[in-house]
Amino acid sequence: MHHFDYKNGVLHAETVSLPQLSEEVGTPFYCYSTATLQRHYRVFTEAFAGTDSLVCYSIKANSNIAVLRTLGAMGAGMDVVSEGELRRALAAGIPAKHIVFSGVGKTDTEMAFALDQGIFAFNVESEPELRVLSEVAAAKGTTACIAFRVNPDVDAKTHHKISTGKAGDKFGVAWDDAPHLYDLARDLPGVEVRGVHMHIGSQITDLGPLDNAFALMAELVGILRGKGHRIEFVNTGGGLGVPYHDDTEPPPPPELYAETVRHKLASLDCRILFEPGRMIAANAGILVTRVIYEKNASGRRVVIVDAAMNDLIRPTLYDAWHEIWPVSEAARKKEKTPADLVGPICETSDRFAKDRPLPPLERGDLVALMTAGAYGAVQSSSYNSRLLVPEVLVNGGEWAIVRARPDYDEMLKAESLPSWLDGK
Ligand code: LLP
Repeated sequence: MHHFDYKNGVLHAETVSLPQLSEEVGTPFYCYSTATLQRHYRVFTEAFAGTDSLVCYSIKANSNIAVLRTLGAMGAGMDVVSEGELRRALAAGIPAKHIVFSGVGKTDTEMAFALDQGIFAFNVESEPELRVLSEVAAAKGTTACIAFRVNPDVDAKTHHKISTGKAGDKFGVAWDDAPHLYDLARDLPGVEVRGVHMHIGSQITDLGPLDNAFALMAELVGILRGKGHRIEFVNTGGGLGVPYHDDTEPPPPPELYAETVRHKLASLDCRILFEPGRMIAANAGILVTRVIYEKNASGRRVVIVDAAMNDLIRPTLYDAWHEIWPVSEAARKKEKTPADLVGPICETSDRFAKDRPLPPLERGDLVALMTAGAYGAVQSSSYNSRLLVPEVLVNGGEWAIVRARPDYDEMLKAESLPSWLDGK
């Protein structure tokens, strides 16, 4: 469910016309819907009504501070994985006590900064990290609240590049090592273990693996409590999938996910933390792009647009499917023929879709790549010296550029010549 619909023959974001927006902003650009962000956050939190819970939106999915402020205003906490993300969350006004810090490679300086801010908890992913955090916190005379991220060795049945909970993945501590590490943490200064964390993967469309992981989590809490540990919260991570295809069975809704969580974890009498990212942001964003040319490449219909893999890398990296909607409703209804939708980058992998049934498209036509609000702009780059794509946030009939397109001077100014090449 999202708020990108046809009105008066053209695609709108809420009540803002995309052809008009494209004239003002230039293409390509990301466009986010406030109503969709709010709806997804509300649906997720309402599914857990009556449960002692904290939703920490995983800001790696979309870290624009306007998006963070929108969610923060509804009470969202944040899950961060770097000092940069933490600074974004703070800049968006998120209280530090609603922030958790994940990641396998937190540096000493990142830990120190997070401790100074007073974040809620660190998700610790290894013994060496535990020891460094203990040292950094003890040196400051403070205590870090921690949960170990435990790797349950469960196959999330998702794309292998975004599956994280199998033994051998780089994430978390092994299930068998967990009890010993909780004991070790109890004996170290500067750290206090209060929770258990898991995250087995992303774009999960089958609740079975989550159910198995939650069962293991509950078992572990029992074991830890049996050893005298005070476990006050469980953090189930993120991972709930979203519909990318218009024509396939949608993934389970948050209500079913909530049932799975409750069934396995409610009796623990713990606060439950969640780290949803994609589920909140994906359908709330689209990438709007303009057709530059169409050509026939040895019998193949190839449509070349002004967005490219540097702006949205998901199809290249994960073979991801994004629906392609022409901005003109009339075009949408025309007969479709298979085409490749590609960008201008000098790589064969710069392709958004292969053999996709598309209506006739002409130079200058606009198309939208749907469900691009999560892991879209955040994974963009300036490869081929293309300018970073701007972001626009719509709210009803209002809109604002929330990240401007840089100009070429800014791009060139970021670099400099060493003295031996400068000729001075
Ligand atoms: N918590 C942790 C510890 C994570 O590593 C992640 C995502 C999340 C929460 C949020 O997961 P979500 O609810 O969004 O599934 N770039 C890839 C996805 C990478 C996910 C990384 N971790 C993509 O475009 O599909």
